[in-house]
Amino acid sequence: DIDIDIDIDIDIDIDICSLPKENWQRDVHAVQLGGFWFMPESIKPILRVINNFKPLPTDVIVATFPKTGTTWLKSLLYSILNRSSKHNLAVQHPHNLVPFLEVQVFAESDEPLLLAAPSDEPRIFSTHIPCQLLAKTLDSSECKVVYLTRNPKDTLISMWHFVNKYKPDQSWSLDEATDSFCRGVGLYAPYYDHVIGYREQSLKRPENVMFVTFEEMMEDPRGYVKKLDDFLGCPFEDEDEVEEIVKNCSIEVLSNHDVKKSKESPSRIPLPYNAFFRKGKIGDHNNYLSDESIERIDTLTRERFHSLGFMY
Ligand code: A3P
Repeated sequence: DIDIDIDIDIDIDIDICSLPKENWQRDVHAVQLGGFWFMPESIKPILRVINNFKPLPTDVIVATFPKTGTTWLKSLLYSILNRSSKHNLAVQHPHNLVPFLEVQVFAESDEPLLLAAPSDEPRIFSTHIPCQLLAKTLDSSECKVVYLTRNPKDTLISMWHFVNKYKPDQSWSLDEATDSFCRGVGLYAPYYDHVIGYREQSLKRPENVMFVTFEEMMEDPRGYVKKLDDFLGCPFEDEDEVEEIVKNCSIEVLSNHDVKKSKESPSRIPLPYNAFFRKGKIGDHNNYLSDESIERIDTLTRERFHSLGFMY
C-alpha cells in the first residue's frame, strides 16, 4: 500500500521561523514543511506555487527530485513540443526554456513571471515540489506531468558533487552527505517519499502523469522520445527527427554549446551555465560509495520501494 496523503493543508501565512529545522549540509539548515525539507528561502515561492499556479489543460510539467536528470528531460520535452524552434537549445539554457515554477516563475510574487506570450505551443514548466504538496494543483487540471527519477545512489553522488563544486569554501564529506540522504534531510527530501508520491499519482492518473527513470531513458533514448511523444499526444512520423532530438539533447552536445561554456547564469539560478552537466552516466556511485554505504542505501531502498512495482 503506497497511498499518499494529498490532503496536507498548508497555511499560506506560515511563520518560517516556526518550522522544524535540521542540519542538512555543514552549517546549512533546512526547514520542514508538509513532511519535506527545503531551504528556508524556498518556502515562500513554494507556497506561491501551491496557492496561485493554475495549470492550463495544455501545460506540460517536468517534475523531479534534484539531480535526477531534470535538465535532460527539460531539453527533450522542449525539443519534442517546440519542433520548429528546437534549435533554441543551442543558444538558451534548458532552465530558461523550461523555467522552474518555484525558482523562476513564482520567485517574486503571486503573479507569475516569465510566462511566454500565448502561442500555439504548450507551456512547459518544471518543479521539484513533491506531489504530496502539489497534487491538488495538478489534479485540478488535465495538464500532463512527466516525473523522472533516478537510482538513489547516483542521485546522492550527483548532489554531493554539485554541492562541493558550487560551495567550494566548505567541503561536505561523502559520509555526511550519505547520512543526510538516509535520514531523509536535504533539498526537497526525503527522496523516497518524493518518488513514491509521483509514482502513486502515475498509477492513479496514467493519462496525466507519466513516470520514467533516468536509467530506462539512457538505455533506450529513442524509444523514450517516442513514448514521451505518444503521452503528449503528438507522435513523430519521421524517425530521423527522433534521432536528431536524442542527439541534440545528449550531454555531449548540450554541454558543448558556446552559451553553456559561458560563466553567465540561467535566469534566477546563480550558477554557471554548465553547472548542470557533469558525467550523465549510470552507476557513478560505484566509484565513490563504500560497500557499507551501498548496503545502507540498498536496504532503505528495498524497504521503501518494495511495493512500487520497480526497484533499484
Ligand atoms: P551527474 O552528476 O551524475 O553527472 P539535474 O538536471 O536534475 O540537476 O541532474 C543533473 C544530473 O543529470 C547530472 O548527473 C548531469 O550530468 C546529468 N545530465 C545533465 N544533462 C544530461 C543529459 N543531457 N543527458 C544525461 N545526463 C544529463
